[in-house]
Parts: sequence; structure tokens; C-alpha cells
Amino acid sequence: MLNYFKNATKPMNRETNINSNYSIQLISPKNPLLVEAIKLRFEVFVWEQRVPIEMEVDEYDRRCNHLVVLDKQQRVVGTLRLVSQGENVKMGRFVIRKSHRRRGLGTWMMQAVLKIAKQKGFQYMILEAQTYVVSFYENLGFEVTSEEFMDAGIPHKRMSKAL
Ligand SMILES: CC(C)(COP(=O)(O)OP(=O)(O)OC[C@H]1O[C@@H](n2cnc3c(N)ncnc32)[C@H](O)[C@@H]1OP(=O)(O)O)[C@@H](O)C(=O)NCCC(=O)NCCS
Repeated sequence: MLNYFKNATKPMNRETNINSNYSIQLISPKNPLLVEAIKLRFEVFVWEQRVPIEMEVDEYDRRCNHLVVLDKQQRVVGTLRLVSQGENVKMGRFVIRKSHRRRGLGTWMMQAVLKIAKQKGFQYMILEAQTYVVSFYENLGFEVTSEEFMDAGIPHKRMSKAL
């Protein structure tokens, strides 16, 4: 475990008290929690969104850092990964377990990861947003930088934010 962000910035005015029910950890690829995070990615991307199974895990997973959200029982309910690309960092493989969405957890994770990336000295965070959640990222200060394109059969747009 590289860091522990129990007190990362929290969204306000949500019914659920995120701080008392969840914690965030930044993990290296050697952390056993990565297996749980990848299981969650399969649950969401492969089974829910029908991304081809062979596309889900790639060589970056064993080299990059991952962020996980844990519930009180220490189960992984959210994950994303950070791949460095020179002076920029690419955020990807971002999911919240279906039963835990719309509680502010995704926003909380993004706020934490933006803080981490800035502290590490990256210039920009870049990502490929599924088009249906472009406004989610715009609300966090990201801007669209490409036309829509298809990846794994899903419409996407590239986005970036200066850190
Ligand atoms: C995208 C995702 C990570 C968001 O996580 P989340 O925890 O539900 O997000 P939040 O609760 O912080 O949402 C904050 C705001 O973003 C917007 N938003 C979130 N999900 C949305 C959706 N599916 N459609 C439209 N707006 C959405 C809403 O404005 C929401 O605020 P509200 O709940 O008060 O209306 C989650 O929906 C998910 O895992 N989706 C499946 C995987 C995926 O598509 N990943 C993104 C790939 S780019």
C-alpha cells in the first residue's frame, strides 16, 4: 500500500455519509486488493457493458498504480488506474459497483485521484470518457479534446484537465 486516503476530500450534502462508511487506498500492482479490483472491472465492463473479455486486462495493470474504494467490510466497491505518460497521467478502468452508484463515490474517487496526481507533479490528467458520462467529468473540470470515437463498441471522447 502506497498511501491511505481516509480523509480525502468528500462531496457534500449526500444522504450517505461517505467518510464513515468508505475508505480509499492507492495500491501498487503487488497488492492482493488488485485481484478484487479486477474482478469488479470484469463485473462492470465485461458483464454489464459487454466489453470483449480479452480487452479488459492489459500489460499496464501490472505496472501502474490503482485506486480502490473499500466499504466497511473491506470489500472493493470502486476502482480506477493511473498510467503515467511522460508529464501527464492517464486515468482509466474507472468503475463503481452498480449497487453503490449515485452516492457520490465516483466524484470522491476522482477528487482524490486529482489530488494525488497533482502531488506527484503531473501536468495534465487525460482520460477517454464514455460519452454518456462526459458531463460527470465536465463537472470535475475536464474538457473534451476529441471527436467521438468507438472503443470496444462503446462511444467515447478524449478529455483532459490541467492539474
Ligand atoms: C461513471 C461512474 C464511475 C460514476 O460513479 P458514481 O459513484 O455513480 O458517480 P457519482 O455518484 O459521484 O455521480 C455524481 C454525478 O455525476 C452524474 N452522473 C453519474 N452517473 C451518471 C449517469 N449514469 N448518467 C448521467 N449522469 C451521471 C450525476 O450528475 C451525478 O450526480 P447526482 O447523482 O446527484 O445526479 C459509474 O456510473 C460507473 O461505474 N459506471 C459504469 C462504468 C463506467 O461507465 N465507467 C466510466 C468509464 S469512462
